[in-house]
Amino acid sequence: MFAILTMMEREVKLENIVSLAKRRGFMYQGSEVYGGLSGTWDYGPLGVTLKRNIMNLWWNYFVDARDDMYGVDAAILMNQKVWQASGHVDTFTDPLVEDLKTNQRYRADHLVKDAGFEAEGLTNEELNELIIEKEIKSPVGNELSPVRTFNMMFQTTVGPVADEKSISYLRPETAQGVFTNYKNVVDNFYPDLPFGIAQQGKAFRNEISPRDFVFRSREFEMMEIEYFVHPDKWEESFEALLKDVHEFLDMLGLPQDMVHELEVPENDRAHYSKRTVDIEFDFPIGREELLGLAYRTDFDLKNIQVNSGKNMEYTIKGTNEKFIPHVIEPSFGVERALMAVLSSAYTEDEVNGEKRIFLKFPEHLAPVKYAVSPLLKNKPELVAKAREVYDILKKKHGNVMWDDNGNIGKRYRRQDEIGTPYCVVIDFETLEDNAVTIRERDTTEQKRVAIQEL
Ligand code: GAP
Repeated sequence: MFAILTMMEREVKLENIVSLAKRRGFMYQGSEVYGGLSGTWDYGPLGVTLKRNIMNLWWNYFVDARDDMYGVDAAILMNQKVWQASGHVDTFTDPLVEDLKTNQRYRADHLVKDAGFEAEGLTNEELNELIIEKEIKSPVGNELSPVRTFNMMFQTTVGPVADEKSISYLRPETAQGVFTNYKNVVDNFYPDLPFGIAQQGKAFRNEISPRDFVFRSREFEMMEIEYFVHPDKWEESFEALLKDVHEFLDMLGLPQDMVHELEVPENDRAHYSKRTVDIEFDFPIGREELLGLAYRTDFDLKNIQVNSGKNMEYTIKGTNEKFIPHVIEPSFGVERALMAVLSSAYTEDEVNGEKRIFLKFPEHLAPVKYAVSPLLKNKPELVAKAREVYDILKKKHGNVMWDDNGNIGKRYRRQDEIGTPYCVVIDFETLEDNAVTIRERDTTEQKRVAIQEL
């Protein structure tokens, strides 16, 4: 009567998730009404709550619950010197090729990978050679241009005069807003080492070919920590943060067997990193990067010191020991976390011979915690009692939905699809015994509970 497919038996398809996300008000294509804007996504009423639940969980776990973390919220637009000093103006590039017939542009490494060859860490020259040698063509079979570098930062100008000096960029990472405020936090709070500064917020990258739903977007949200450590002690903080990252992923409900660590080899690491561990996840599109943990050394603070002329040294309290702290950086992409949560929660089973789709969110992430329904919506006495119950739960839990559309079976299906853990139904018996039926999402079991015990 009731059969849930195990993780191994089920194969979640990306199109099923995209379709559910749209059908049930989680995500919409950005600017859809005008034909869309590639690489942008809008959050619907349920999506925004799910996203905030993930971001709040992260903030509570990594900032509020700890004594060694400070939060900041820096401006998205920053002085162009930030991006010159950080290396982004010169090196934040992807390899670009053009279809010589259609002029469509593609990421060269993606085409090489799609053709079945290793592309990680290859230089433009090496990619070029591979494309020629293996006769790799565009996805529609045309010849490709030579590979060239393409800077992914969105450039804009600030103020009424557009010239060299007014150039700014939409930030491609939140990290630099932390580094530029490092000195402010040290001067105001003088924290002991090690300590971290955390930030959440939008980042923008002009991806050559955004794809795979929100996985590779042009506008997305990041959650980053720059954790400042004594240069001799970076390894212990690295290991401790790696452990914390796994604990957080557990809290997202991601099955441990779908989460993998990848020690990134030197030639694939970002220019600032001496060690990077990527956390990969078995997405419906395959095993891909979910987040990164990098040892950024003193690369950023040293560059700021050289380029701004301001001293970035930290003095150990009560001593004359001065140095520029080194940095460990756990860097999360919210959209990838959300896609991992959606795909691991997506479940199909059979109830009484009928196929059912439900999102098995951990309760603390579910956008709606309770749905409250009168058994029949044309019976005023049931509706009035159901409103009473709804008000009680709403006051207590906030995310409670009123649902009186269609018959009760349809309501259950709808609530299952948005991952509501509990449906509360008010029926004629409720008027007699002041108890309601609570139906549980995962097991579909129903039990009677007194209203005062809800
Ligand atoms: N501050 C370090 C940094 O920016 P990154 O590996 O370039 O490192 C960190 O990005 C995380 O941001 C990635 O692990 C991923 O979760 C997310 N991310 C990067 N580019 C993305 C994109 N185009 N769309 C969605 N998420 C992205």
